[in-house]
Amino acid sequence: MDNQIQQLKVEALSRLGEIGLPAELEEFRIKYLGRKGLFPALMKQVAQAVPADRPRLGQLANGVKREVETAYGDRLDTLTLHGEAVSRSTEDLTLPGRSIPLGRLHPVTQIMDEVCGIFEGLGFAVAEGPDVESDFYNFEALNIPPHHPARDMHDTFYVSDSVLLRTHTSPMQIRAMEEKQPPLRMIAPGKVYRCDSDVTHTPMFHQVEGFLVDRGISFADLKGVLSIFIARMFDSRTSIRFRPSFFPFTEPSAEVDIGCVFCGGKGCRVCKQTGWLEILGSGMIDPEVFNKVGYDPEIYSGFAFGLGIERIAMMKYGIDDIRLYYENDLRFLSQF
Ligand code: DAH
Repeated sequence: MDNQIQQLKVEALSRLGEIGLPAELEEFRIKYLGRKGLFPALMKQVAQAVPADRPRLGQLANGVKREVETAYGDRLDTLTLHGEAVSRSTEDLTLPGRSIPLGRLHPVTQIMDEVCGIFEGLGFAVAEGPDVESDFYNFEALNIPPHHPARDMHDTFYVSDSVLLRTHTSPMQIRAMEEKQPPLRMIAPGKVYRCDSDVTHTPMFHQVEGFLVDRGISFADLKGVLSIFIARMFDSRTSIRFRPSFFPFTEPSAEVDIGCVFCGGKGCRVCKQTGWLEILGSGMIDPEVFNKVGYDPEIYSGFAFGLGIERIAMMKYGIDDIRLYYENDLRFLSQF
């Protein structure tokens, strides 16, 4: 019996020394000190010992039990007060894991992907070109010579007299046509830059340029392709309006409006009471542009269009300040 008591003491104290986690300590308490634990069982055994041995064994067992209880108490204090710092094994595998916040694509990227996806579905190939562009590709080759009043429409960031940050994705028309012969069916997504900043303008924004060149292409093809695009991008019931306009690189030119998505065409602040929102510029490629790239305008014709991604995203999501896209406020961005 004496041995048994000593053995339980050694075993309990050495087990306590190994414990590094509160959960293990609780297991220890139940196993040794709990109501159905090894110490109460030992006490019962002592109570049944021969009367002559009982006082001595009782004293011994009680002493050991108190020692283990004290050691247990100390261990509990260190574990709860100093937590992981003192424990041998610092992970509590019973804790729920920390969740990793999921990232999302920026709303501008999402709309860009959607726009490109629609045109790719119509057989358009995707091409990308440089953000730093020459005056020739950005203006001259697009029939915008120096001093042409149309240059006023673009508040250009110049790098030098002949190098600039592209003000639109239209230069990709020239680059693609210089490289390839018709038939051509391409889109060119990318960043463009203008020295402008207010609720509807940021100095950098995104455009998608599109163009199609072949024999016998007419304005009807332009209307067909752009109508399909708008039906897929918004809703097949969205009303569309082609409005005569002017761009130096297209003739005739048209701007395309859709029925205001905010008021349903009744007239509101966003559509300036007109019931319409402008969504893109387009037209039949000017023969002057074909001459610049060596295509014969007597043989080929084509149409082109350019649209602003931030603008389309604003319409789709009902956003009234374009600057929100670029403030990196996660409360805004995580809604998409
Ligand atoms: N490049 C024009 C702009 O940024 C948009 C545009 C209009 C592109 C008509 C075109 C077009 O291809 O045909 O304002």
